[in-house]
Parts: sequence; C-alpha cells; structure tokens
Amino acid sequence: MKLLVTGGAGFIGSNFIIDWYKNSKVPIINLDKLTYASNKENLNDVNIPSDLYSLIEGDICDGKLVKKIFEENEISSVINFAAESHVDRSINDPELFIKTNVIGTYRLLQASLDYFKENPNNDFRFLHVSTDEVYGDLEKNDPSFTEDNQFKPNSPYSASKASSDHLVRAFNKTYNLPTIISNCSNNYGPYQFPEKLIPLTIKNAISNKSIGLYGDGSQIRDWLYVSDHCSALRKILDKGEIGQTYNIGGDSEKTNLEVVLKICSILDNLIPRDDKTSYSELITYIKDRPGHDKRYAINSSRLKNNLGWSPCEEFDSGIYKTVHWYLKNSNWLSKNQSTNLEGWLKQHYNEND
Ligand code: NAD
Ligand code: TYD
Repeated sequence: MKLLVTGGAGFIGSNFIIDWYKNSKVPIINLDKLTYASNKENLNDVNIPSDLYSLIEGDICDGKLVKKIFEENEISSVINFAAESHVDRSINDPELFIKTNVIGTYRLLQASLDYFKENPNNDFRFLHVSTDEVYGDLEKNDPSFTEDNQFKPNSPYSASKASSDHLVRAFNKTYNLPTIISNCSNNYGPYQFPEKLIPLTIKNAISNKSIGLYGDGSQIRDWLYVSDHCSALRKILDKGEIGQTYNIGGDSEKTNLEVVLKICSILDNLIPRDDKTSYSELITYIKDRPGHDKRYAINSSRLKNNLGWSPCEEFDSGIYKTVHWYLKNSNWLSKNQSTNLEGWLKQHYNEND
C-alpha cells in the first residue's frame, strides 16, 4: 500500500514527506507538476530509501494519468496539497487557479472514487488540504473562524480553494467517498517559496533590498509552524472523522508589521549590518493588495478536543528557527527565484496612485 501525495515538491508537501518518514514506513508516491513553486531537491536533504518514495511529474488535471496511477498501485489514502497557492498570482492570472485548484481537485476526486469503488477499504481517506482564507476575513474583535463559518472568499485564490472544498464535501455526501477537509492558517518554516511574506522578507533583508509592506502593515494573520501542520495532518489522516472538516491554527495572531519587525530584530542580532543600522530601515510601505483580507484567526478546538492535537511551536521560537534555516540555506533562497510576476508586482505595488 502506498500513500498518494500530490504537490509534495512544494513547501508544505516537502515538509510533510520529510516528517512522514520520521514516523512511518508506508511508501509515498508524489504526483507533482513541478511548477515554479516546487523544488524536487528539497527531499535530497534527507535520505529516503528509493523503495519508499517515487516522484511522478504530472498534472492533477490529467485525468488519464491520475487514473493510471490508481490502476498501477495499491493506494492506502490520498492527501491533496497540489495547488496554485499565491494570492498575488491569483489576482494577476485567476484562470490557472481555477484549472489546478478546482478542475484538478475534481479529477483527483473522480479517480479516487473509481478506485475506491473497485477497492473498498475501510481505512481509505481522501484528505484535502485547504486554507482559512475560504472563510473570508474578520474585523479586529470578531471571534475566530470555526468550521461552521460561512464561506466568503475574497480573492480568486481563496474562491478556487472554497470551490474545491465544496467538491470534496459533495463527493462524500453524494458518493460516500471517505473525504476529510482541513483548513489551516498561514504556514511558515523551511522550503517556503520566497514570494510569500516571511521568506521574501528574509531574502530582501539579506540582499539589502527594500522590504515591501502592503498598505499600512496592520493586516493580521495567524501563523502556524509547518511541522505543527504536518503533525495535525498525520493525526487527521489517522483518527479524523469521515466527512468532517478540521481547522488548524497556530494560536499566533500577528500583524504583518510585527512579523517583519521580528524578522529584522533576529537578523540584527545574528548578522548585524555593517553600518549597525537595523534591517527595519529597509521597510517600505507600498500600495495595498486589492481585496486585501484584514484579519484571519482560527479556532482549532475541534481538532484539539476531538483528536488531541495542539501546536508545539510558539511564534518566537518558530520564527527564530525559520530565519536561522534560511540563513543556513541561502543558496536555496537564491536558487528559488520568483518568475513571471515581477512585471505585475512592479506595476501594481510600486506605482503611486
Ligand atoms: P506551494 O505553492 O509551495 O506548492 C504547491 C505544489 O503543488 C508545488 O510543488 C507545485 O508544483 C504543485 N502543483 C501545482 N499545480 C499542480 C498541478 N496542477 N498538478 C500537480 N501538482 C501541482 O504550496 P504550499 O504552500 O505548499 O501549499 C500546499 C497546500 O496547502 C495548498 O493546497 C494550499 O492551498 C494549502 N495552504 C497553504 C498555506 C500556506 O500558508 N502555505 C496555508 C493554508 C493552506
Ligand atoms: P502571503 O505570504 O502572500 O500570504 P497570504 O496572502 O496567503 O496571507 O502574505 C501574508 C501577508 O503579508 C498578507 O497580508 C499580505 C502581506 N504581504 C506584504 O505586506 N508584503 C509582501 O511582499 C507579501 C508577499 C505579503
């Protein structure tokens, strides 16, 4: 039996696979399109025996390929990480998000259902990894999102993820496919592509480039250390209730400005600038993101109370480890360059109104 992981060469998928082998000997097939956001070399950092891991370069939208993978392997469960994941890219080019996140998830569901019908197995699960962004955003004093919040996505990215969540739910209700959905908050940690806030801030700071904060930097995100996300996903796969949704959060709400200032102060201590000024001097306030969500906050009580999970990492320790990792792996940081977005970013964020 093998676990089918999609998008396992991306940020969370790579961390999940590395974490998986610390706890299990069940082999993994990683189906990944190897887009700009992926790096298949992430897994070279750990020695995974070749009989335990195989990478198939391919698209989850390719129904024939997905079907063939199911025909040629005994699949114990599916965990779907594959997605286009960057909000700014979704504003610039929504169609790819609809294709991968909606059509791709549908194709994966259909192939899983065909397989499950032929090979009924009580332990089979389709675990769909989603985001808290499907719930929209919150005012400062609103209670945090629970699994019962209405979906109110505000960006093409979150709308495409919300659509995929609906399809996953429908395949459970209509066809009895044993699905589970998880909705997590903003992850941070090693191997995150440096177009997301935390690795981009580190990359710009150590390159002495300006650190762009959208709007006034007051937007709030809940930050989840990626290894805590991985442990939650293992727990959900193992003990989660079929048809259920689980929120996963890090209990660490911070404004974007707080996050960036924290990174700057860690860098000030670890690698002081020659002129002794703080990296925070590089912070520049730029035009706001269209439809920018003000605040995400997540209530993970269901996961905590029913499955006994809680995050291990505090933000202060997690962000320190993260900055340290990127400094130690500055080659990784320079190799992973954002592509095809610079023009739009420049035009949108650097233009004065
Ligand atoms: P990522 O962008 O780093 O990686 C996505 C991976 O999916 C890449 O390896 C890419 O090559 C692959 N992929 C993209 N399109 C594909 C396709 N059509 N077929 C096969 N593979 C494809 O994303 P991530 O940050 O690792 O996020 C993983 C999942 O977690 C996504 O579904 C995302 O929506 C969700 N999520 C992420 C966060 C976060 O903070 N990063 C928060 C909440 C939810
Ligand atoms: P991001 O890492 O893109 O994740 P998401 O949009 O999914 O939450 O952004 C995190 C927050 O940081 C978000 O409020 C947008 C903001 N942000 C900046 O202020 N500057 C940047 O350069 C980036 C990439 C993000």
